[in-house]
Amino acid sequence: MLLGTQRINGNGALEIGGCDTVELSRRFGTPLYVLDEECLRDTCRAYRRAFKTRYPTSHISFSSKVFTTMAICRIVAEEGLGVDVSSGGELYTALQAGIDPQTIVMHGTNKSPQEIEMAVENKVGRIGIDCLEEIEALQRVAAAHGAMCDVLMRVAPGVQADTHTHIQTGKVDTKFGFPLVDGAAKEAVARITGAPNLTLRGINCHIGSQILELPPFVEAAEMMVAFAAELQAELGYTVEDLDLGGGLGVRYLPSDQPPSLDDYAEAITSTVKAACAQRNLPLPRLILEPGRSLVGEAGTTLYTVGVVKEIPGVRTYVSVDGGMSDNPRPALYGARYDAIVANKAREPRDGTVTVSGKHCETDTLIADLRVPPIAPGDILAIQTTGAYTYSMASNYNRLPRPAVVLVSGGQAEVIVERESLEDLVSSDRVPSRLQRNLPTGGAPQA
Ligand code: LLP
Repeated sequence: MLLGTQRINGNGALEIGGCDTVELSRRFGTPLYVLDEECLRDTCRAYRRAFKTRYPTSHISFSSKVFTTMAICRIVAEEGLGVDVSSGGELYTALQAGIDPQTIVMHGTNKSPQEIEMAVENKVGRIGIDCLEEIEALQRVAAAHGAMCDVLMRVAPGVQADTHTHIQTGKVDTKFGFPLVDGAAKEAVARITGAPNLTLRGINCHIGSQILELPPFVEAAEMMVAFAAELQAELGYTVEDLDLGGGLGVRYLPSDQPPSLDDYAEAITSTVKAACAQRNLPLPRLILEPGRSLVGEAGTTLYTVGVVKEIPGVRTYVSVDGGMSDNPRPALYGARYDAIVANKAREPRDGTVTVSGKHCETDTLIADLRVPPIAPGDILAIQTTGAYTYSMASNYNRLPRPAVVLVSGGQAEVIVERESLEDLVSSDRVPSRLQRNLPTGGAPQA
């Protein structure tokens, strides 16, 4: 499987954005996140085209949690996308990147008073309201600033998408938003429209992530329009913005077949148009918030192969120099990935190995990967790691987080520096009572 600008060059090595990945690994070290700029930009354009041609008042907002860096925020903004954030840290990153606050949507459950303050102070375009408490908190802060805030209200439409339970976010049984089932959502609309400093612009939902079929999206769109019709009929409230969230899946394995962007856009826009026509509702502005499907396939992680341990008749373990600290998804969700031995990209994959991370637990990155004969020093390129890897990385076992390089047209530029060992201890503090001289010499104490 070759994605984006990936190709195999004359040396038989994997190339991304015109850069030889073996050379990238020598120049920048491993593990290394590599981001294919052209692939990301093409996907941004394809998203906008797929929706704009079918639904002119559509707007695509990049869900920044998927890969939060300043350079990525700038690329998507250059491509005409908005940015959605779900914490003060993501908001800070977008603002530092120079993103126009008016194009930012601030989501997030259980927003802290500081996060609410930050969103109001910086005049972000939309603030998502997730619970009753936030209505009052936001009204208070907006009034104190003498500001009018445009808000969206998060609805849990009760749709159960076929994806990992940790990332089903629109079921009835969920912590997110106001449920449609018990009238809570309608009551919240009444409360928000009654708040003097809040303007309710519309409703939003998000049903889950890595969804590889269209029916759950269609079902959610229908339920959201039906809810909009109820609000119109019963409260005289017109939904201007209909934000249907993200959730479209990507190819992790060659066998994954996500719907095309055109099929996805067609399913959603035709559903919204038909459902609105049926209920005599004006067409709302349609907002989509893709994360994974914008950047997932544009990312690749390079690792250096270390120990290769063959357990005869059982399996061969191939250890790499990263693992669950740079990609927790296999450990957390049982996520599956494909990978290429970057320096042997043309050789037949006639062996099977298990790729393990270097952390002090099983830390399997890929079970049963088909590879050519593999040896220490080889470079392994795990594909489709642009989503929820860097942004979920940790320092477990005090591994420094890898660098991120942006590749395009044969150029490679660092967009996130590799953490140093000094970075790892830079926030540590040793209270003075622990600064006495420590015992030295001798064997470790029993
Ligand atoms: N909008 C909202 C309100 C969301 O909560 C999310 C993701 C998105 C948009 C973007 O969804 P996407 O297009 O990326 O599916 N860490 C998990 C995924 C969690 C998704 C949470 N919400 C993973 O690694 O699979």
